[in-house]
Amino acid sequence: MSDSNQQSGRDSGSGNRDSASDAHALIEAARNARENACADFSHFKVGAALEAADGTVITGCNIENATYGLTVCAERVALFKALSDGHRKFRRIAVVAPPHAPTPPCGPCRQLLWEFAGNIEVILANLNGETGRHWIAELLPQPFDARFLK
Ligand code: THU
Repeated sequence: MSDSNQQSGRDSGSGNRDSASDAHALIEAARNARENACADFSHFKVGAALEAADGTVITGCNIENATYGLTVCAERVALFKALSDGHRKFRRIAVVAPPHAPTPPCGPCRQLLWEFAGNIEVILANLNGETGRHWIAELLPQPFDARFLK
């Protein structure tokens, strides 16, 4: 992580922005993004909504194709859209997937969220509402990142 991203990670853990009511809009944005999922192969639609430090919400959905292996998860679509738009600091991400059990981000998404967004909060939800909250540092213990390359 860069210094600025480390700072954003610390910022994400402070304040009172994570009340249940406050997360509702972010979950709703992820749920709406999920409607755009290109999931013809798995039929498992996922939506994500990433909140930047300035309050901007950037959404993503999973995108599959016929080779299967080129699938990009909803979290990474949202992250890459945000980075491409110039956002560099983030607060949290909501992820909406259909099952009753929580659907946490896959390993590659955890790695990229850690490197580019820092220790943000991950709010999980299904179509009935919120199912869990985690910190990226909890989901990705002992991460490898740019600090090891110095
Ligand atoms: N998927 C996501 O988009 N995010 C997750 O957190 C888990 C999995 C997608 C990838 C693939 O399109 C489908 O769900 C089934 O794995």
